[in-house]
Amino acid sequence: MTVITTVEDLRRLAQRRVPRMFYDYADSGSWTESTYRANESDFQAIKLRQRVAVNMEGRTTATTMIGQNVAMPVAIAPTGLTGMQHADGEILAARAAKKFGVPFTLSTMSICSIEDVAKGTDNHPFWFQLYVMRDRDFIERLIDRAKAAGCSALVITLDLQILGQRHKDIRNGLSAPPKLTLPNIINIATKPRWALGMLGTSRRQFGNIVGHVKGVENMGSLSAWTAQQFDPRLNWGDVEWIKKRWGGKIILKGIQDVEDARLAVNSGADALIVSNHGGRQLDGAESSIHALPRIVDAVGSQIEVHMDGGVRSGQDVLKARALGARGVYIGRAFLYGLGAMGEAGVTKALQIIHNELDLTMAFTGHTNINNVDQSILLPGTFPKP
Ligand code: GLV
Repeated sequence: MTVITTVEDLRRLAQRRVPRMFYDYADSGSWTESTYRANESDFQAIKLRQRVAVNMEGRTTATTMIGQNVAMPVAIAPTGLTGMQHADGEILAARAAKKFGVPFTLSTMSICSIEDVAKGTDNHPFWFQLYVMRDRDFIERLIDRAKAAGCSALVITLDLQILGQRHKDIRNGLSAPPKLTLPNIINIATKPRWALGMLGTSRRQFGNIVGHVKGVENMGSLSAWTAQQFDPRLNWGDVEWIKKRWGGKIILKGIQDVEDARLAVNSGADALIVSNHGGRQLDGAESSIHALPRIVDAVGSQIEVHMDGGVRSGQDVLKARALGARGVYIGRAFLYGLGAMGEAGVTKALQIIHNELDLTMAFTGHTNINNVDQSILLPGTFPKP
């Protein structure tokens, strides 16, 4: 029995248990993966100040994100094909998030549908991530479905109207359900636990889309579908009509530039996410943690600033918080847990991150996450605006 103590342990287990096509999809970045790597290494370059003989009793990591109570400032990121890492993956991850007290964000490109996740979590409110597609009737219906399911925030992704090239996905012939080429069949045959789970569920297609868009019975490859359906003309005017139609909290995902951050403020959104899509889109873009202080400096007093990209530990959460992020999102960190052990693995990832966050906060001399600021970081080691 493997003893799991870090997110890296979960990653290794997921790599053994999830078919290569889906593990690679989650784990890799675009082109040379330089941004993907920088997201992690720039976190590691930031050093913490250890404080001693400070009362460490009675600690709390509880705070709020967009006014909603969270057990720690961590949300589950919207990730495509989550239900291919593990059967019914979105439902399992949403349940783990609910029990832990952190938000779960469902991707438009999920396997389990909005309705399935709502039912599977006893209608506990979750966040829904929206991709804007050419078919605006479909988008309107999708917004209405999220509303009907009681979703408590809409996350609009702005940085994936075209898809960054991911070499492994092309080589693996990524599709959901998997294309049964000989190499894929051989690989799946070595993952009996995964295959058994998949045989036990009917959810093996893009649940929000197949059957809801005219003519889409089977999506084939993700890249071909994205190229056909995602609307490359997306602009700030679209954000306005979506906001009106939705009528609730809006979070804008994919902001890296100060000018765009100002436009996000003007749009009336409740929060923005400093993000380079986990290094999966524009390779060569700066890391999210590097961009964060500049965005916080420019707009932090007018809008809640969140971030994602490279968060693999509670220490990363604390560093992002110190640099002004109200909250962070974990994508791969929870997907590794899901692929490794289903719902228990997502819970494990959240527990690991919470424990690391709590201990690191104590070592830096704090008992309340809401009091943590830049002073916990060693001068000269962290990015400035
Ligand atoms: C979709 O969000 C992806 O990054 O593949």
